[in-house]
Amino acid sequence: MKKYLVIGNPIGHSLSPLIHNHWMKKYRLFGSIYEKRKVEEKDLKNIVKEIRDDEIIGVNVTVPFKKLIIPFLDELHPTAKKTESVNTLFKVKNKVVGYNTDEPGFAQTMWELFPDKDYKILASLKRKNIFVLGAGGVTSSIIYTLEQRGAKVFLSNRTKKKAEELKKKYTEIDVLDWGKRPPVCDVVINTTSIGLTSNERIDIDFNDCNGDKNKLFYDLTYNPKETNFLKEARLRGNNTMNGQKMFLNQAIHAFNLWTNITPKIDDEVVKLLD
Ligand SMILES: NC(=O)c1ccc[n+]([C@@H]2O[C@H](COP(=O)([O-])OP(=O)(O)OC[C@H]3O[C@@H](n4cnc5c(N)ncnc54)[C@H](OP(=O)(O)O)[C@@H]3O)[C@@H](O)[C@H]2O)c1
Repeated sequence: MKKYLVIGNPIGHSLSPLIHNHWMKKYRLFGSIYEKRKVEEKDLKNIVKEIRDDEIIGVNVTVPFKKLIIPFLDELHPTAKKTESVNTLFKVKNKVVGYNTDEPGFAQTMWELFPDKDYKILASLKRKNIFVLGAGGVTSSIIYTLEQRGAKVFLSNRTKKKAEELKKKYTEIDVLDWGKRPPVCDVVINTTSIGLTSNERIDIDFNDCNGDKNKLFYDLTYNPKETNFLKEARLRGNNTMNGQKMFLNQAIHAFNLWTNITPKIDDEVVKLLD
């Protein structure tokens, strides 16, 4: 039996097993199974050992372990190193390597939203002003993509110190106090976990964006499908998108690392998340 896992705490909400088991069946990888496991920080070392000993083939890592897993790994893929965020583990040439597939998952989503007509990928977000809310585990991956593609990033987090920590890594970003807005912005990205529960909302006034279809409000959360942040933007007449595509894209990248197969996003897989 080839075993795959997603680890986190809490883990009950994870939809990764649904997606990966669907693909394992679809691509006839009989004898493969993907499960979720709730772990504590003290268990991380042993998870890596299980991969080293071929008891587990691949692992997805979620909140709050994406950074905490790093000291136990033999090697980091360059993007995981730069972002200090690991969401996928796989053994390569006897070394347990940490990858970050959130970053290409988000990058691909942005590429589909902002294609560059000349196919100059790095220019696709150039000159866009992007307001990023939050400075949690996933935010570094988001800023990495945006900077690579030449966007101007404004960052704001409730705990300002965490935003300032990110500025040490991404020097071109501007850090704003929580509640403040940049003078201009084309896209607002919510990377906070506000919205995972239905009664929370972000207390920033975007009413001057009323009726502006060119403004995109993007939320990394995909469950619930429409957070208050997205609902308010939709009611204002703005463009909105949730994190479902990014989630599927990161899963495709992980599945490809483990199996060499690139699954397609079809109606069947989208329906699984509904
Ligand atoms: N679509 C995808 O593929 C994908 C991938 C990864 C993550 N996500 C989603 O992205 C979100 C963040 O994930 P993460 O790993 O970065 O989480 P995290 O490390 O726990 O960070 C949480 C962030 O939310 C902020 N926050 C939480 N409650 C708040 C409140 N009441 N007011 C203001 N700020 C608040 C935190 O601010 P403080 O620093 O002040 O605490 C922090 O910036 C989650 O909803 C997760 O599901 C989606």
